[in-house]
Amino acid sequence: MKIPDRTQVAIIGAGPSGLLLSALLAREGIETVILEQRSPDYVLSRIRAGVLEQTTVQLLERAGVAERLHREGLPHDGFDLCFGGARHRIDLKRLTGGKHVVVYGQTEVTRDLMAHRQSLGLPTVYEAEEVSLHGFDGAQPMVRYVHQGQAHELHCDYIAGCDGFHGVSRASVPPRAITQHERVYPFGWLGVLSRTPPVAHELIYSNHERGFALCSMRSHTLSRYYVQCSLQDPLENWSDDVFWDELRTRLDPAAAQALITGPSIEKSIAPLRSFVAEPMRFGRLFLAGDAAHIVPPTGAKGLNLAASDVHYLSTALIEHYVEDRGAGLEHYSARCLARVWKASRFSWWFTSLMHRFPQTELSGGPMGYRMQQAELDYLVQSEAAQTVMAENYVGLPF
Ligand code: APR
Ligand code: PHB
Repeated sequence: MKIPDRTQVAIIGAGPSGLLLSALLAREGIETVILEQRSPDYVLSRIRAGVLEQTTVQLLERAGVAERLHREGLPHDGFDLCFGGARHRIDLKRLTGGKHVVVYGQTEVTRDLMAHRQSLGLPTVYEAEEVSLHGFDGAQPMVRYVHQGQAHELHCDYIAGCDGFHGVSRASVPPRAITQHERVYPFGWLGVLSRTPPVAHELIYSNHERGFALCSMRSHTLSRYYVQCSLQDPLENWSDDVFWDELRTRLDPAAAQALITGPSIEKSIAPLRSFVAEPMRFGRLFLAGDAAHIVPPTGAKGLNLAASDVHYLSTALIEHYVEDRGAGLEHYSARCLARVWKASRFSWWFTSLMHRFPQTELSGGPMGYRMQQAELDYLVQSEAAQTVMAENYVGLPF
């Protein structure tokens, strides 16, 4: 496919943000070119959380890519909190007037979006190297890149920086024009994927004195488990047997008994951070998704925040091109950040409630653990507290 040297919106990154944005714009005939530094297989190899808010599902429906999601996704009306050796269900559906979440791996969302773009025959440059952004503070932005040894220039009206936390887009903004807020957590998540039936039909979030644990899933035959671990722990220390024993220890007796173990087909340690860059617009460059913010995975907000950014940006660009109205572009950053900060706060609160912190941290040591137990005791006894948790977990309105 010959890649054009001019388009309306140049999208940097073919992860969920870039692919969903391009799909929504394509429905209105707005031209895009996506530049992705990796191969399609590499993009699909990344294992990421897959708990979709209903608003994210609705966006995927609007983009025309929700058919397999509806066939294979698992609607969840609640989840369990596990502490003090017992499990307590948070009834999302009852507490939120009927809302639920859908469990469907991010890899599958990305796969569906990639297949959709390919079916439309829209230009995507994989393994684009040396991507650099130019002129976005003026009226004629341009992106330079190298592909198969050949240098290219892509002239455009707007650039969407959908290239994640380590991307080039945010890094291209002059330091004086951007404020970056960050909190790095003093632990990591060791994640395991196994071809085993999930231990329960809903997710289990566990606060244990040895650390946090999470029982999740990708399907009825593919399970995803996590335990909080030290970032100093080499992955080699975590054999499958050591992992399964630690997970059992951190669960209630019934779940520990029910757990079906098997060989790990993926095992990795991920750091946790909270990060927000402000603003999210710089002239004709718009940041979306992980390029602008990172949340600890506890609240499963990462993909859903990327989706809400894409909702605001696609709506603004469509208003601009189809209705010749610029208000959406003007208000893009403020609208995104209002929702980003609320989701960041919830993710930070849930992470602080469920993990063991060192004595040096405010919520750390024995007293911090007792405070967490008190909050969990209060939470499971208070309809009001559970409602606040449920409203944030299913996702706040756009
Ligand atoms: N040039 C081109 N592409 C780049 C560059 C670059 N310089 N740097 C990064 N990329 C690509 C990455 O290879 C990746 O495919 O941009 C894409 C960014 O995708 P994500 O990191 O998945 O970010 P996003 O699309 O915003 O999705 C957010 O992914 O990380 C999870 O938890 C997060 O669920 C959330 C979702
Ligand atoms: C996952 O399935 O990977 C997952 C689910 C819920 C979370 C985090 C991760 O809060």
